[in-house]
Amino acid sequence: MVDAITLETVQEAADYLRARTPYRPRVGMVLGSGFSGVAERALEAHAFPFEEIPHFVKPTVPGHSGRLVFGRFGGLEVAMMQGRVHFYEGHSAAEITLPIRALRAMGAEVLIVTNAAGGVRRGMRPGDIMAIVDHINLIGLAGHNPLRGPNDDRLGPRFPDMSPAYDPALLDLLRAEARAQGVRLLEGVYAMVGGPSFETPAEVRFLRAIGADAVGMSTAPEVVVARHSGMRVLGLSLITNVAPDSLARRLEEETTHEQVLAAGERAMPVLVRLMEGLLGRLARILER
Ligand code: HPA
Repeated sequence: MVDAITLETVQEAADYLRARTPYRPRVGMVLGSGFSGVAERALEAHAFPFEEIPHFVKPTVPGHSGRLVFGRFGGLEVAMMQGRVHFYEGHSAAEITLPIRALRAMGAEVLIVTNAAGGVRRGMRPGDIMAIVDHINLIGLAGHNPLRGPNDDRLGPRFPDMSPAYDPALLDLLRAEARAQGVRLLEGVYAMVGGPSFETPAEVRFLRAIGADAVGMSTAPEVVVARHSGMRVLGLSLITNVAPDSLARRLEEETTHEQVLAAGERAMPVLVRLMEGLLGRLARILER
C-alpha cells in the first residue's frame, strides 16, 4: 500500500492518458452509485478501464464499473470517473485519490464529486438530492488523510486550507439549475465513514449530533486532494436510504447495497438532466 503520492507517479498516469486521448478536460467528475448513467450521455466518448491506466487501482464493488470516460457533456470537455475505488476496499486514502491528481495534471480546474449516501437528518427520504456544503472526514480526522506522509510541494502545500472546501459560486450554479428545472435540492453536511459495514443506530445518532446530514463511504479524501491541488469542488449526494437511528427503525428498513443501487436507478433521469444543465452553466462561467 502506498501512503504518499509523488509528482512522478501522477505524471505517469497523466502522460499515459494524454498520449491516448485528445481530450484536455477542464472539468473532472466522479460518478458514484446512482450517477454512473451520466457517463453514458457523454458525446464522442473515449473510455479507459482503470486497470489500463498506470497506478490506478481497480474497483471491486458491484455497481462501480471503473472506467475513466472522456467526452463532451453539457458543452464542455469532461473526464468522468465512472465508478471509484473506496477506502474500505483496502487501499490507502492516497492511492484511491490518485485519479484526482491525474485529472488535475491533465488540466482539470473543477471537480464534481457525487455519491450515494444515507440520510441522517430527520425527514430525508430515498431519492432526495443533497448539495454538499461541507464535510466531516471521519477517517481523515482519525489519521487516514490522503495527504499523510511526506508532502510533495509540487503537488500542493503541506497544510492546505479547507475552508471553504466546497466552492460557494459552484453551489450557486447548482442551486440556480435545480430551481430552473424544478428539482428539490437539499443542502447539508456529508460525513464520511470508513465502511463497509453500515452504521449502528448509535452511530447514526452520533453522526447527527456532530452535525452530519448524510453519511457515506467516499468523497471526502477526493475533495481533500482536489483542494490540495488547487481545484474548485462541487459535491452532490443522492440519498438512497434512511440511516436508521433506532433498532425499531433498523428492523423496519434494513439498509442493503441493492437498495442503494435501486434508488440510484430510479433517480437516474433526474440526475442526468440536472448534471447536464449544471455543466451548461459551468461552460458559460469558465473563461476560455
Ligand atoms: N451509510 C453509509 N454509506 C452509505 C449509506 C449509509 O446508510 N447509504 C449509501 N451509502
